[in-house]
Amino acid sequence: MATDTIEVRVAPPYPVTVGEDVLRDIPANLDPRPCAILTDSNVGPLHAAALERALRDAGWPFVGIVEIPAGEASKGVATYADVVRRLARMGLARDGALFALGGGVVGDLGGFVAATYMRGVDLVMLPTSLLAMVDSAVGGKTGLDLPEGKNLVGAFVRPLLVAADPGWLGTLPEAEVSNGLAEVVKMGLLAGGRFFDALGLIPAARAGDAEAVRTLILHSVRFKAEVVAGDEREAGRRAILNYGHTIGHALEAAADYALPHGSAVAAGMVAEATISRARFGTDLSDLHADLLDSAGLPRSSPGIDADAALSAMSRDKKRLAANGGTTTGGANHRFVLLRDVGQPVYGVAVDDDEARRAIEAVIG
Ligand SMILES: NC(=O)c1ccc[n+]([C@@H]2O[C@H](COP(=O)([O-])OP(=O)(O)OC[C@H]3O[C@@H](n4cnc5c(N)ncnc54)[C@H](O)[C@@H]3O)[C@@H](O)[C@H]2O)c1
Ligand SMILES: [Zn+2]
Repeated sequence: MATDTIEVRVAPPYPVTVGEDVLRDIPANLDPRPCAILTDSNVGPLHAAALERALRDAGWPFVGIVEIPAGEASKGVATYADVVRRLARMGLARDGALFALGGGVVGDLGGFVAATYMRGVDLVMLPTSLLAMVDSAVGGKTGLDLPEGKNLVGAFVRPLLVAADPGWLGTLPEAEVSNGLAEVVKMGLLAGGRFFDALGLIPAARAGDAEAVRTLILHSVRFKAEVVAGDEREAGRRAILNYGHTIGHALEAAADYALPHGSAVAAGMVAEATISRARFGTDLSDLHADLLDSAGLPRSSPGIDADAALSAMSRDKKRLAANGGTTTGGANHRFVLLRDVGQPVYGVAVDDDEARRAIEAVIG
C-alpha cells in the first residue's frame, strides 16, 4: 500500500504521512539527531521496539524510552514534571528530538514537553489511535489538564513531521475506534462533498477494511490541515472544528469525565443539530442518527443533569473570555451550527433557554 503525504501549510509547513512504511521513511526524511521516545503503557509494549530499531538502524543516537501510564490522568502537570526530569537524566540535549508515539494523551503531553524542555526540542508525532491520526496529531495544539479544567496549560507547536501507520490501529480497542470516528463524522459533516460521501465507508472501516480506514484518515487529515492552515491560532474559522463540542464538553464535565469523549461529542452533535434545525430549518437529525449508529456511537447521554451541563458551559465561556477568545456577554453562548451538510456557521449566539432545550433533548 502506498504512502500518502499531506502538507499542513503553516510557516514552516510540515508533512503528515500516512502509510505502512512510515517507520522506514522517517529516518530517510530527517537527519539523525539524539532522540527519545515518549509512549504510554499500552502502546509502548506493542510498538516502541519497532520504532527504536528503525531509528538505531538509521544511525540515530538513541537516549531512551519514557513510558507513562495510559489514560487521560497522565496528561497533567505531575506526569509532565516526571517526563522532563527523566529526559534530563537520560541526557536528551537541546539538539535532540522527541518522538511522541501514542494516542492524543501522549501527543498532547509530548507536544508540550517538546515545546518547553530545553526551551524547545524537535517533535515527531506518531499517532497510534484513530482519534490522534485524524484529529489531535494535526494542527499543533498541545495541552495539559489541571484539576481546574481540561487543556488549561498548553502551547502551539509545529512538529517536524507527523507519521501514521494505519496498521497500528490493529491493536486499538473497538470503543477507541468509535471514539475516533466521532471526530471523523464531525469533520465529514463540516466538509460535505466527497468527504461526506466517504462516511458511507464507516461500517467497512469498523469491519477492518484497510482501504476504507485509510480513505477516512486521509479525508480527515486533508480537511483538518486545510482548516488549520487558514487559521492556525483559531482566530476565526478553526472554531468550526468545535461542532458538537460546546454541548459535548458540557456533558463530559457534568458526567465528571466518566463519559468517553466520542460519546459526549456524538450526543453533542445531535443536540446542536436540533438548534441548527430551529435556526435554519434544515433537519439533519436522521442523518446524524444514522451516521452515529454506523460508527457505534450513542445518540444521547441519559442520566446527565441539565443544570450541571449548563453551568459547565458557562464556565467554559468564562475561560474563553479570559483567554481573549470569542465570547459574548449576558446569557449567550457561541455555537457552531450546520446550515446544511458542508455549510458550518460559527460564532452563532445561543441563549441559555435554547441551549437547555437542546441538552434536554439528548439526556432523557
Ligand atoms: N491537540 C488537539 O488538537 C486535540 C484534539 C482532540 C483531542 N485531543 C486530546 O486527545 C486526547 C484523547 O486522545 P485519544 O482518544 O487518542 O486518547 P488516549 O491517548 O488516551 O488513547 C486512547 C487509549 O487507546 C490506547 N491506544 C492508543 N493507540 C493504541 C494502539 N495502537 N493500540 C492499542 N492501544 C492504543 C491508549 O493507550 C489509551 O488507552 C484527549 O486528552 C484530548 O484532549 C487533542
Ligand atoms: Zn473532540
